[in-house]
Amino acid sequence: MSVEDENKLTKIKNSLESRVVTLPDGTSLPRIGQGTWYMGENPQIRAREIKALQLGIELGMKLIDTAEMYGDGDSERLVGEAIKGRRDDVFLVSKVYPHHAGLDMIAKACENNLKRLGTNHLDLYLLHWRGHVPLAETIEGMEKLCKEGEIVR
Ligand SMILES: NC(=O)c1ccc[n+]([C@@H]2O[C@H](COP(=O)([O-])OP(=O)(O)OC[C@H]3O[C@@H](n4cnc5c(N)ncnc54)[C@H](OP(=O)(O)O)[C@@H]3O)[C@@H](O)[C@H]2O)c1
Repeated sequence: MSVEDENKLTKIKNSLESRVVTLPDGTSLPRIGQGTWYMGENPQIRAREIKALQLGIELGMKLIDTAEMYGDGDSERLVGEAIKGRRDDVFLVSKVYPHHAGLDMIAKACENNLKRLGTNHLDLYLLHWRGHVPLAETIEGMEKLCKEGEIVR
């Protein structure tokens, strides 16, 4: 890597470190994270996508956002590969489909998120969008997952 490139990366790293957002529970995160929609869908660029995510982590883009919907699970599988051995450096966000967000399915959906991601917990679990399941029911399911440790928030 050229000195010029190294300087550019240092500048990005410093900038990420100095611009943070604080969550309601006090957790502090760099304002810029990494989205993964459409990632993991094309085997020809898979290795590059993994490297890009890993470089992002090294630069301090701690938050990675994925979802069971993205690539029908392929995005989560790709993220799982990218964060192998670096789980503690990442704030991992995933999402549940509205049609999996009822009490009868959310635990299984989350178990599948975790399996694809190769981790035992998510830092943040989101309902991808509102569907027919009452929100109170989804919240009850998520609170249960929080108590059991599969999700932190
Ligand atoms: N919570 C939710 O329900 C939800 C909804 C939507 C998205 N998201 C998350 O947010 C992320 C971003 O979504 P978005 O809707 O903002 O996406 P978007 O509008 O498609 O924006 C993607 C950005 O990345 C740039 N980009 C794409 N490929 C690039 C490359 N190879 N090199 C450099 N820049 C590149 C694009 O640049 P150009 O404009 O120049 O192409 C664009 O600015 C998603 O990946 C997902 O994780 C979450």
